[in-house]
Amino acid sequence: MKLAIYPGSFDPITLGHLDVIERACALFDRIIVAVATSEAKHPLFSVDERCAMIRASLPAGAPVEVKPFDGLLVDFARSEGSVVVVRGLRAISDFEFEFQMALMNRRLEPKFESVFLTPREDCTFISSRIVKEVARLGGDVREFVPVAAAESLKKKFQSH
Ligand code: PNS
Repeated sequence: MKLAIYPGSFDPITLGHLDVIERACALFDRIIVAVATSEAKHPLFSVDERCAMIRASLPAGAPVEVKPFDGLLVDFARSEGSVVVVRGLRAISDFEFEFQMALMNRRLEPKFESVFLTPREDCTFISSRIVKEVARLGGDVREFVPVAAAESLKKKFQSH
């Protein structure tokens, strides 16, 4: 049983994230989407809201579980019995941070492997940060995020 962890802040989940999940499902038997509390990043959505949006966006029957985590990724992965982490790589600008993180995680846990997947071309410009900005300024984000995230963004910014 090949299990991989797909970690991130997912604040909120985008169509790019969903594409990476779909690709990971073709390579592994089971995926755990690990939602970091990421408090230092002051997320717009609580970790429970982010988990709920992801669960609502997954295709029925997908071999994917969604779990929140706090602390080190290597500790979470170990507690789940996995040493494989999947991350999306959109552009060269992602590379430096991803490379540092992969090497740090491997130093913390020598068995750790990072697998990088490129999302669909039409998703490569989408990021949670830009989507939040567009939504905050009243733009339509339905092309970039799943329905559950578009609705949550609308509600969040209506109430601000
Ligand atoms: O979606 P993001 O914000 O780019 O995801 C980054 C994340 C959550 C995967 C990364 O910050 C992380 O692994 N956080 C857990 C803390 C940790 O293990 N840090 C040391 C490894 S760099």
